[in-house]
Amino acid sequence: MQILDGIKLSKEIKQEIKLKVESYKEQGKRVPHLGAILVGNDGASRTYVDNKIKDCNYVGFESSELILEDTITQEELIAKIQEWNNDSNLDGFIVQLPLPKHIDQEAVINAIDPNKDVDGFHPMNFGKMALEMETFLPATPYGIMEMLERYKVPTAGKHTVVIGRSRIVGRPMSILMSKNGNPGNSTVTLTHSKTEDLAKYTKEADIVITALGVPEFLKADMIKDGAVIVDVGITRVDDPTSPKGYKLAGDVDFENVKEKASWITPVPGGVGPMTRAMLLKNTLLAYNKNN
Ligand code: GUN
Repeated sequence: MQILDGIKLSKEIKQEIKLKVESYKEQGKRVPHLGAILVGNDGASRTYVDNKIKDCNYVGFESSELILEDTITQEELIAKIQEWNNDSNLDGFIVQLPLPKHIDQEAVINAIDPNKDVDGFHPMNFGKMALEMETFLPATPYGIMEMLERYKVPTAGKHTVVIGRSRIVGRPMSILMSKNGNPGNSTVTLTHSKTEDLAKYTKEADIVITALGVPEFLKADMIKDGAVIVDVGITRVDDPTSPKGYKLAGDVDFENVKEKASWITPVPGGVGPMTRAMLLKNTLLAYNKNN
């Protein structure tokens, strides 16, 4: 079994980006600039946004953070988005999800200028992705593709089973794995909460990509020998022995599954750091489109 090490890979990618930023500076150019909007103060969302800003600092990007009260109206939020759409100093920005219940997530995503949508969530960008046109890819599926590519994990002709059909992970993942290219060229089964007898599919899979959010859901008897296991699950579970009071748990029963897998991502240290690095790559793409 080999570990797909997201920490090591993401460091390499961040280093590549850092060198690019240094070369822009040497040429007297401005540096890429990423913005993040956070509505409310959900602990996990706050951590994600803080990490995005930290990553910008690390690679030398400029960053802007806008933290809004969770009482903000949808109209006020969209007005802020329009300001950022029109800010020529900002290459791209994200609106951290989930949003408070009184705000229509779809309307908010639709308000983002597709050319600044570095999350790749706008329907225009999702459509381009599905049509295999160059665009911003959602960071988590993009990070998984990058990981499979850099570790040279074979995907062509393989049966990939994706668990979960969210717009952020599962559905785009299913599209990218079936695309014509490498990685890609997989035969994909997209499973979800209404799938009957899920294990029937996972047992047949050469590659399982799970984004369910149920700790240790995927057991060793649900996979075949030599399968590639990619764990997107990252759930906070109570842990009184940890200083934070919680630990992060993946969807995979790692200790048992790793004995049967050929490649496997750990949690933490697998997909998460890759997601963070890919947002930086998308920001770089936005910057290069604007320059
Ligand atoms: N919430 C969970 N993942 C993401 C992400 O990749 N981007 C945004 N904007 N919100 C998220």
